[in-house]
Amino acid sequence: MIKVSPSLLACDLSDIYREVADVENCGADMIHLDVMDGMFVTNISFGLPVIQSLRPKTNIVFDVHLMINEPQRYIERFITECGADIVTFHIEATSAPDLCIDIIKKHGKKVGLSVKPGTDISAVYPYLDRCDMILVMTVEPGYGGQAFMPEMVDKIKKLKKELVSRGLNCDIQVDGGINAQTAKLCVEAGANVLVAGSSVFKSADRKKAIDALR
Ligand code: DX5
Ligand code: ZN
Repeated sequence: MIKVSPSLLACDLSDIYREVADVENCGADMIHLDVMDGMFVTNISFGLPVIQSLRPKTNIVFDVHLMINEPQRYIERFITECGADIVTFHIEATSAPDLCIDIIKKHGKKVGLSVKPGTDISAVYPYLDRCDMILVMTVEPGYGGQAFMPEMVDKIKKLKKELVSRGLNCDIQVDGGINAQTAKLCVEAGANVLVAGSSVFKSADRKKAIDALR
């Protein structure tokens, strides 16, 4: 089953609560929350207090994508203070991947592990059996509205093959430049969780956009 996770980064950020409620009504399965520190990526987005303030207002699954260095410093707070349900961190960002996984699992939340476009997918193989989801970035992380990188399709296929050969039931998420056309390529390659910022939030008919992705 395909899940759609609209990325908050592309919404009207002056009206976050209503924007989340709107995509939830339009059939979103979760909301994707991009946290950036200006270090791991060159951009800065939003962080703990913003996500925390949103938590009491909605029951939607919080899919938190941490684009921050040494995320083990903050993971616990994103769970206990902000109510993160899925916590995804980058393999390139941490000197302690196992610790990150331990913290997420200790709280009974879902573990996501991500790779940037330039990182070989084999970098996540040692951790696959402890992950619930692998996020294959389909653009360079940091900014919404970029063009999908078609060369990432092979990476998704390679990962899917590895998961199947090991009998692992791990979600494959894609993020960056995802619309109805690029989603099709990713799903055919094995992805089942689609992050979409611009193609959902900037669409005149968000329900139609989400349905088209699915
Ligand atoms: C980029 C973020 C994405 C971004 C996607 O670093 O991780 O989640 O919001 O935006 P679109 O769908 O517009 O490419
Ligand atoms: Zn993201």
